[in-house]
Amino acid sequence: MLAGVKTLGSARATWVLRSTVTQYKALLPHGARMQSSIAGAQQSEDIRVLGSSYGRDKWTNATPAILEKTGRDLLHHPSHPLAILKELIFKEFPTFAHYDNISPVVSTYQNFDSLGFSKDHPGRSVTDTYYINQDTLLRTHTSAHQLQLLAAGKKDDPELLALANNSSASPRNERFLVAADVYRRDEIDASHYPVFHQMEGVCTFSRAEIQKHIRNRNIAADTTSSTGESGSVAKLLDTTVIGDDNPVQPEHSEEEAAFLADHMKQMMNNMVVQILTKAVAAQKSTGDADAAGSQTEFPVRWIDAFFPFTSPSWEMEVLFQGEWLEICGCGVMKQAILDDAGMPDRVGWAFGFGLERLAMLLFGIPDIRLFWSSDPRFTGQFAPGQINTFKPFSRHPACTKDVSFWLPESGDFHENDLMDMVREIAGDLVEGVKLIDSFTHPKTGKASRCYRINYCSMDRNVTNEEINTIQEQVRQRIVSQLGVTLR
Ligand code: DAH
Repeated sequence: MLAGVKTLGSARATWVLRSTVTQYKALLPHGARMQSSIAGAQQSEDIRVLGSSYGRDKWTNATPAILEKTGRDLLHHPSHPLAILKELIFKEFPTFAHYDNISPVVSTYQNFDSLGFSKDHPGRSVTDTYYINQDTLLRTHTSAHQLQLLAAGKKDDPELLALANNSSASPRNERFLVAADVYRRDEIDASHYPVFHQMEGVCTFSRAEIQKHIRNRNIAADTTSSTGESGSVAKLLDTTVIGDDNPVQPEHSEEEAAFLADHMKQMMNNMVVQILTKAVAAQKSTGDADAAGSQTEFPVRWIDAFFPFTSPSWEMEVLFQGEWLEICGCGVMKQAILDDAGMPDRVGWAFGFGLERLAMLLFGIPDIRLFWSSDPRFTGQFAPGQINTFKPFSRHPACTKDVSFWLPESGDFHENDLMDMVREIAGDLVEGVKLIDSFTHPKTGKASRCYRINYCSMDRNVTNEEINTIQEQVRQRIVSQLGVTLR
């Protein structure tokens, strides 16, 4: 990184923690609702997503570039790294119903209210979420399906239950996994992309079942064999305690919460160990020493967390090349969700994994945009069921352009509007957008920003003329739509 250059992620991290894995751990104060400047785009006709039409309103901010991604279906290309990882995880949970084909269009209720998000939670903001209209949005996480799938099992909704790939595994959705594409307005760089994939896991028990397990002390018997002891590639570290800072819900006994936490952690540890073991084996068999995945031991740690829909809550992190990567959020499900699904006699745990981050680590993929590449030099490197280490192909030269402007005096400027606009105009040619300078004029009090846009194609050389044309469009659109004054 250039000296003095700040990525947008770090600039914003103070008000809401963002990552392409989990977002909803911070419940921080949020001021007046921010309206997107490209929201409610000028057109008045309906918006079409995956063959259905929806009315627009002033919340509408899903751009055509994003809507185009809803049809890409990366999880259904069997040799795509994300689909390979999905299948590996599905295999680790054979007694769970497996879903990977639920539409990304969900209600605001499903995505937020059903999970207990407060009305002023920052995640609901139009600057963070792609709305189709006020009541309908592109899911921002797979947790949006928790209540719906539990209720479908309880009420026997055959249409929804039939979407499971393995309908006999848990015919009433008492245990299920959902793999899906999720959408968040975000910054642009090698590890952030406005569309990514998650795997949700939900596991419920009747209270009587739990009592039986506790009497027999047989958590391990209910999960697959316990792993993580010496000799395993994962070194498990867990010093968290359930207590005042990460409390048991009033509806649960301490015994129940402890059982659920142990059961969940053991199943997740097993899964991560199995997957990392496969990655290490693959890397040894190809003798690939300088691959991104050339690590043979992976410390895995549990830390306390907060989510609106679990308590107690944790995150799982993996130490990769000296850095702790958050790969998953999880916890004991809020009882209100099970009550709302019509099953007050059951309790459960849930997790949400970010697939890209784990896939980048397993396959040694250095840039999140590569997942969207249709370049055969990328797609041709992978095969169903196999973890191969990605062999980088030559990078095409990048082209950098700066744009400086004064912010509108109304103060109404949001970086994500700029991000979406650049992506809208340049598509995947944009590799990164960074804030490189920011100051306020001492006399006039006017605020100035300078952003550096890095253009680069994954599969061809770009010409300076081509980029100049794009940059000119960016300059014109930020003036007309974001109300800034070019400097
Ligand atoms: N949905 C959360 C996110 O994307 C991740 C998550 C956290 C999912 C905890 C869960 C959970 O099921 O229990 O930020």
